[in-house]
Amino acid sequence: MRLTVIGTGYLGAVHAACMADIGHEVLGVDIDSAKIAALGEGRVPFFEPGLQDVLGRTVASGRLRFTTSLDEAADFGDVHFVCVSTPQRPDSPAADLGAVDAVIDGLAPRLRRRCLIVGKSTVPAGTTARLTARVQELAPEGTDVEVAWNPEFLREGFAVQDTLRPDRLVAGIQSRRADETLREVYAPMLRAGVPYISTDPATAELVKVAANSFLATKISFINAMAEVCDATGGDVTTLAEALGHDTRIGRRFLSAGLGFGGGCLPKDIRAFTARADELGVGSAVSFLREIDEINARQRRRTVDIARDMAGGGFDGRRIAVLGATFKPDSDDIRDSPALAVAAAIHREGADVRLHDPEGMDNARAVLPLLDYVPDVAKACEGADLVLHLTEWTEYRRIDPAALAAVTRARKILDARNALDAALWRSAGWTLRALGRPTPP
Ligand code: UGA
Repeated sequence: MRLTVIGTGYLGAVHAACMADIGHEVLGVDIDSAKIAALGEGRVPFFEPGLQDVLGRTVASGRLRFTTSLDEAADFGDVHFVCVSTPQRPDSPAADLGAVDAVIDGLAPRLRRRCLIVGKSTVPAGTTARLTARVQELAPEGTDVEVAWNPEFLREGFAVQDTLRPDRLVAGIQSRRADETLREVYAPMLRAGVPYISTDPATAELVKVAANSFLATKISFINAMAEVCDATGGDVTTLAEALGHDTRIGRRFLSAGLGFGGGCLPKDIRAFTARADELGVGSAVSFLREIDEINARQRRRTVDIARDMAGGGFDGRRIAVLGATFKPDSDDIRDSPALAVAAAIHREGADVRLHDPEGMDNARAVLPLLDYVPDVAKACEGADLVLHLTEWTEYRRIDPAALAAVTRARKILDARNALDAALWRSAGWTLRALGRPTPP
């Protein structure tokens, strides 16, 4: 089949490369000509493990090409996937659908052949219905075009495997033909037994925001328990393990710490509450505001514990920060808890020396005043305190005894509960964590 993928960010670039990998002819489209030039040469312009291989081989095979031209896209595609971002609006909790609307307004009048437009971006319930009306208004008369919604559930850092072997596929369709088209697109996955749920567009739109809301709720739940553990002397990691053995609960997404960030979970729960308010059912999901607030509290609590460990204030203190991205195996710093903490302690006068394996360029662009140090030991040189804020594997491999030789004090706050506390303590470090007792 001939597919276009419009919007080639984290989601679109992965989708385009993976669709070409399973045998489709794919045209990736973006307004960012620098990004299109890089992708066209088979180079991934951001960090995503495994994507370089798939992109390289599909571009080399000729099945994957890139363009900035919507005319070319309209002419090419049997199916047009819309993968542009839907960030939070600067002035409200709602999602900004400007990019999705711009794609529809640009594409629809150019369509001359029968096709299916398939949204993958995360959107408020009701968007497919609204865009269907818009497409009918703008597409040239007699052009047979439909709109469907097929949400994407990939995680950054695992995007390629999540796309090639998804837990499920959800298709929000308005006709049998749209259903058959999507089944044809995903035929190799369906043959491999991936569950395919065919439903109406409103349900499909909701599956996505409901899934992210549930994940966010799980994380905030365990973070709330971490705070209770701190008050009782309990250990949240053991609590999570014990809870997780109950298969109805499950261990995943019960890692307590600094909380969730990124371009999805935080803005999705806010957009969901805003849309529910519009629909008159705001009170049904008002608990999501509490989920967001518990999440914000983890950042404040981390700053408070760090301040306490630094002796009551940050002024004149050198603080080494390990981690800038919102999670490991990504260079994404959108709504990053780690950067929020780094910025807060910098505002309070700390001399912040920050290290991250992949996210430093992106971090520097938004927080130019911090000191960015491309080597862990150098970042920790002379530090009064080390903050472990994003759980990169590289940090788990640090030799605490060797690091102790370069810092001024042996104090570390593990805000991700990911370091081997006993190992660090045996090397003479005072290690504190969120929701775990500190031995006297
Ligand atoms: C999330 C969802 O997991 C994907 O299914 C979804 O497709 C995606 O959003 C999206 O809407 O596009 P992602 O943002 O890549 O994926 O990252 P996650 O792995 O979900 O992690 C989100 C945040 O939660 C990170 O900051 C992570 O550190 C934090 N987290 C995760 C915890 O604090 N504790 C946990 O136990 C798990």
